[in-house]
Amino acid sequence: MSLSWITPAERIQKLPPYVFARLDELKAKAREQGLDLIDLGMGNPDGATPQPVIEAAMKALQNPANHGYPPFEGTANFRKAITKWYNRRYGVNLDPDSEALPLLGSKEGLGHLAIAYINPGDIVLVPSPSYPVHFRGPIIAGGVIHSITLKEENNWLIDLSSIPEEVARKAKILYFNYPSNPTGATAPREFFEEIVAFARKYEILLVHDLCYAELAFDGYQPTSLLEIPGAKDIGVEFHTLSKTYNMAGWRVGFVVGNRHVIQGLRTLKTNLDYGIFSALQTAAETALELPDTYLQEVQNRYRTRRDFLIDGLGKLGWNVPKTKATMYLWVKCPVGMGSTDFALDVLQKTGVVVTPGNAFGAGGEGYVRISLIADCDRLGEALQRFKQAGICYQQEAVVSV
Ligand SMILES: Cc1ncc(COP(=O)(O)O)c(C=O)c1O
Repeated sequence: MSLSWITPAERIQKLPPYVFARLDELKAKAREQGLDLIDLGMGNPDGATPQPVIEAAMKALQNPANHGYPPFEGTANFRKAITKWYNRRYGVNLDPDSEALPLLGSKEGLGHLAIAYINPGDIVLVPSPSYPVHFRGPIIAGGVIHSITLKEENNWLIDLSSIPEEVARKAKILYFNYPSNPTGATAPREFFEEIVAFARKYEILLVHDLCYAELAFDGYQPTSLLEIPGAKDIGVEFHTLSKTYNMAGWRVGFVVGNRHVIQGLRTLKTNLDYGIFSALQTAAETALELPDTYLQEVQNRYRTRRDFLIDGLGKLGWNVPKTKATMYLWVKCPVGMGSTDFALDVLQKTGVVVTPGNAFGAGGEGYVRISLIADCDRLGEALQRFKQAGICYQQEAVVSV
């Protein structure tokens, strides 16, 4: 008997197709055809996890005390390391027992937060484009997404005044992310002040994703939501070790901020998972204790790649602004070409993988995201292939005669 009669729940059927999964299929096909792919599609850092972190993990693996179920709320030492790190990086004071919660990567927490707090029909404000779980989590929870379209002319910042008053009054949660994936945009402190005032006025929970805050360049220091007076009353902030510490495969992230919201998420997670393997939490403490010189090395690596690629794309007609943070360039498609068509064209003609902007919502149409996850030699090879294949930025649509 086949299982053809069993269908996924509506909450799954309602999800738009996951473009990254589709891209994976196309990549597999291209590999089968023998193409040497240069994958600049995912946000998967290419470097190794720092050696002291690996050594701490190996030592912790030998300790049988780490072999059982970890505590639901995360180990006390990792929670303390998180709050100490927040104080060192942002001058924010947090209580490790009630205001910090380790996560199986921040994506898990961002998604589960939606399930913990959104009832079917609740309005959730989500920028477009944005990191997919910011809208997919709320869709799974049955929320109604009110998309806030971000615009280049507004430096990809949320225009709070564009949200209709009656929507703001009804909205329950606002997800946002600066420095931003995919646009690479950064938000000034005044923006954070404005959004906190907005959320307090309309009683909206602010969910800020600070994943890229350590990948900042040219002296720019990103703002934590929690630096803003009153933010902790209405907000939580997610962070990850995936990007800064090249630990994407380890699945270690955390959320900090409002204790009630953290308690709600903890209650849900207690019913669904056991959290991070304790040995990895010990290793993660070591990561957070690495000196700032480590962060500077990482920043220098991405800055060098950013400058190299912006320069090379410039020679092909693109005027890509210098992003002050993140590991991404947000690049306009040639005029007359949509995101998916352009990304496919690039893949087929050059073997270079870039992500179509519409993977991040309709607001990303007309752009592709290029990840700085290869060294300059490889980026140079990608540029060379672009040149040979005639991939360049055209201001005018090409008219064939
Ligand atoms: C904005 C943003 N948030 C969260 C994540 C998820 O990170 P992780 O689950 O590895 O902590 C990513 C990954 O690309 C991201 O770009």
